Amino acid sequence: MTNVTSDRRVEGDWWTAPIPPNVHFGDGFYCESTQIFRHFKGRNPRALVIQNHVSCYAGCSFAIGVNGTCSIGDFTLMNGALIMAEERVEIGSHCLISWQVGIADSDFHPLDSTQRRIDAEALAPFFEKRPPRPNIATAPVRIGDNVWIGMNATILKGVTVGENSVVAAGSVVTKSVPPNSVVGGNPAVLIRTLNGAV
Ligand SMILES: CC(C)(COP(=O)(O)OP(=O)(O)OC[C@H]1O[C@@H](n2cnc3c(N)ncnc32)[C@H](O)[C@@H]1OP(=O)(O)O)[C@@H](O)C(=O)NCCC(=O)NCCS
Repeated sequence: MTNVTSDRRVEGDWWTAPIPPNVHFGDGFYCESTQIFRHFKGRNPRALVIQNHVSCYAGCSFAIGVNGTCSIGDFTLMNGALIMAEERVEIGSHCLISWQVGIADSDFHPLDSTQRRIDAEALAPFFEKRPPRPNIATAPVRIGDNVWIGMNATILKGVTVGENSVVAAGSVVTKSVPPNSVVGGNPAVLIRTLNGAV
């Protein structure tokens, strides 16, 4: 069962585009609006794979890049997260991902000031002499099973959040988080451990 119609739209949705063909979803998928795919550019045949009983509310956005892929495990709730996958973002099962969470596997622009000027020109749609974009590094992000990410948290490139962990509201996570931990702050630090973990 799903609220997605056979033509990959959502009944009563104000956004009329269908879900892209390379988005695969399982049984029980709830999609509040197909506008969550408005920034989807993925070309991989399995650019986004959503397992069973996943809910995605209208505040979400899947900004999957041309070469990016993303997977979401069973029973994960996505309330209003922005997922930016240039390479790979994996989200486990039974995760609760809150409002305005950002998860990105790239910085998207170069640190080097000369390269960044080039990038700015490359991104000007009507600039006749647009250069090619500089190469930008990527590093996959992995969110383990049963992770809760609080509102307005940001998860940066290369981070793994271990299973059963909690990321407190407003955190900026720059380094991997062990399983069964609560982290918070900017940059996020360990607040406590859970489930008897040491
Ligand atoms: C993760 C969370 C649930 C932990 O709650 P808690 O266990 O009751 O934590 P406490 O309030 O006892 O705080 C423990 C410590 O962490 C700190 N802390 C709590 N939340 C923090 C945050 N968001 N950022 C930084 N530090 C934080 C506290 O200051 C305290 O520090 P101290 O020990 O030096 O005094 C809570 O911090 C949180 O983020 N709640 C919001 C969840 C959310 O976004 N819900 C929206 C719907 S999904």
